[in-house]
Amino acid sequence: MSSSRFPRFHLLSIQEQRQKLAEFAQLSAQEVSLIQTLNTDDTQSIHATIENAVGLHSLPLGVAPNFLIDGQDHIVPMVTEEPSVIAAASNGARRLRVEPGGIVTKCGRSIMLGQIQILQVPNREQAQIDVMQNADQLINTANQALPGLQRRGGGALELHVRIIQNEKLLQKCGPIFLVEFEVDVCDAMGANAVNTMAESLAAPLEKITAGQVRLRILSNYCAKRLATATVSIPLDVLAHESITGLEIAKRIEEASLFAEIDPHRAVTHNKGIMNGIDAVLIATGQDVRAVEAAAHAFAARNGQYTALATWSLQNNLLLGQLTLPMPVGVVGGATAVHKGVQVALKILKKPSAQMLSQIIAAVGLTQNFSALYALVTDGIQKGHMKMHARTVAMASGANAQSATDVAKKLVAGGDISSDAAQRIINDE
Ligand code: MEV
Repeated sequence: MSSSRFPRFHLLSIQEQRQKLAEFAQLSAQEVSLIQTLNTDDTQSIHATIENAVGLHSLPLGVAPNFLIDGQDHIVPMVTEEPSVIAAASNGARRLRVEPGGIVTKCGRSIMLGQIQILQVPNREQAQIDVMQNADQLINTANQALPGLQRRGGGALELHVRIIQNEKLLQKCGPIFLVEFEVDVCDAMGANAVNTMAESLAAPLEKITAGQVRLRILSNYCAKRLATATVSIPLDVLAHESITGLEIAKRIEEASLFAEIDPHRAVTHNKGIMNGIDAVLIATGQDVRAVEAAAHAFAARNGQYTALATWSLQNNLLLGQLTLPMPVGVVGGATAVHKGVQVALKILKKPSAQMLSQIIAAVGLTQNFSALYALVTDGIQKGHMKMHARTVAMASGANAQSATDVAKKLVAGGDISSDAAQRIINDE
């Protein structure tokens, strides 16, 4: 199996980078040309994707080499508009290629929750007993609504009742008689599956409870569908110029504590994690909003918003850990129709939904590591502005060829403004 470690990959030309990627992921010429262009020239299929589609909105698709996850080499496709995200991911991944297998990951079963809100139930105690007595039948009904899922080894698993009441509900509509059911959605993200099942339960539940069914919808808070990435970094890997590895590990631990304790810092800490995660989600055609919503709810699960990834210094190792809900799928949705997404999944070796969630967690942890590493050493602006300089150069009129030169001059002059770029372009 070929290594994803590509020293100086970012210095190659775009053609050379594509060539290396094609060799690593065994992409055909047609697949390479698919990611090179807008992934489709079929106007009809664009029009069929969303309501009133009038065109395409494109963002750069990049790749982050160097990832070693559970002993497997990966090049990770990432779509982002933020210049330094992929540089940080590749650089962090290079440092996290620790013995024996790099970043270690795991994830839970692909469990999603469906919720059915029932109001005006005349006798809630009796209704609860009746629903639970009919639980097997109701689970059967849900599974009959989507028989394919059970054939693939998943399906609705169990059901329970929660009664929610508070002052406001009592004044407005009375307690909520809530029926919740768990579904193993296998390789799907699962929203459609759970919503179809929830709707199939409405009529039988109205009959059993004599109440009125209102919402029938999944909960995006999939607290059992958790992906975890951990890494144990030897201190010598961390040394930077005159700063020892031990000192950097201490500083990263202090930065982690800051985010664990202060919600203002935690939001930025987590934003950095989502820089990497969202980029992979977009490249692989996922519902980014679902993962974002679940991640931030999870970050606040104990009543205070806190850091999703934490770092601590133990026994001469810097230990990092990230856990978050990861509702992603590799069947259905964009993965079924978007040609570029299909190539992105091929670059990731056609993972299962669980494997994809683990890779994404590893990217999130790496992104956080890189951000903290920069913040406790040179600061974030050095790397950021270097990348940003190219965007400034292009926005000020440099073309693709001259942008790198103009950017270098901007960085060297220490003034990365559009006025400075304009002066350099005029002088050339
Ligand atoms: C910038 O997009 C992300 C960071 O602010 C994250 C962080 O502060 O941890 C660098």
